[in-house]
Amino acid sequence: MTSVSAMILWWTLIFVALTFIPPVTSYTILGGIDQEKKDDAESENSFVTEKLRHLQKQVELRIQSHEPSGRVSMAGTLWEASPLLADYITNPACPLEAFQRMRIHDDDDGNVRLQPQPSTVVELGSGVGLASLAAAFLGCRVFATDGSPSSIRLMNENFEKYAPDFAMPPRTLRLDWGDMDAAQSLIQSELCCLPDAIMASDVVYSYSAREELAATIRLLCPKGHSGRVVIAHRWRTDPADEGSFFESFDDDFDREEVGMEFLPDDGYHRTRNMMDMRYPISIFEMRRKC
Ligand SMILES: C[S@@+](CC[C@H](N)C(=O)[O-])C[C@H]1O[C@@H](n2cnc3c(N)ncnc32)[C@H](O)[C@@H]1O
Repeated sequence: MTSVSAMILWWTLIFVALTFIPPVTSYTILGGIDQEKKDDAESENSFVTEKLRHLQKQVELRIQSHEPSGRVSMAGTLWEASPLLADYITNPACPLEAFQRMRIHDDDDGNVRLQPQPSTVVELGSGVGLASLAAAFLGCRVFATDGSPSSIRLMNENFEKYAPDFAMPPRTLRLDWGDMDAAQSLIQSELCCLPDAIMASDVVYSYSAREELAATIRLLCPKGHSGRVVIAHRWRTDPADEGSFFESFDDDFDREEVGMEFLPDDGYHRTRNMMDMRYPISIFEMRRKC
């Protein structure tokens, strides 16, 4: 098979998988996180509930998993890697400082306290916003971004519902990967600093936007910056190809895959076997080389 026909075959497989396979089915157990999806007749009124086990908190998120055309909506669906990312950053053992600094804890008198220095977290391709919501519950200063207006609309609604629970409500912003002016203006006018953490889940699926995504990550985490990048990735079709996105950072970033000990204990994510139709998901952490 020529490389051109192999590429056409992969594109077709990806299109079929993303179009017709519903990413989250009803009553799925995602890595020990109970997830229940309830649809009414109108997909406009769909919700998922997610249990953030480390925070002992259950959240309900509005989703819009299908577009009016019937196609699965990228931005309105909660994809499988997102609960895992939320689970990881809220794990008290998570080594990333950005998610520790503002951890809410009880002091000796039983009062709830926040650490003094909020960390700044940017999520790219946030979708319906679960990971950003989790980071905001930790007390981080969160900027949830996406290129899709429907994602922004859904996130605004989802964040509004939990407004009383935030020390700092998460902000939503439209950001298209590769729009360097917009990313610069995010840094200068909104963040007023470089982010301590850049996070994303299930964003490495589109061939066309990978370079733009990488460029945006590099701008938000430039040479010499100590910020961390954390990406949860669901392996879909061709691990070598998808892996090449992560490998493309290896010249100037140190990259580690988060250990199995951080994955929920039910074996659900503990596979890389692409024939196993459970959902192999990895979390990568990256930081600029010194
Ligand atoms: C597969 S969804 C993942 C959503 C969410 N992170 C999750 O895991 O549930 C990919 C997200 O990336 C966003 N996205 C795709 N291409 C983009 C681009 N070029 N610029 C900004 N956002 C983009 C989509 O709108 C969508 O919300």
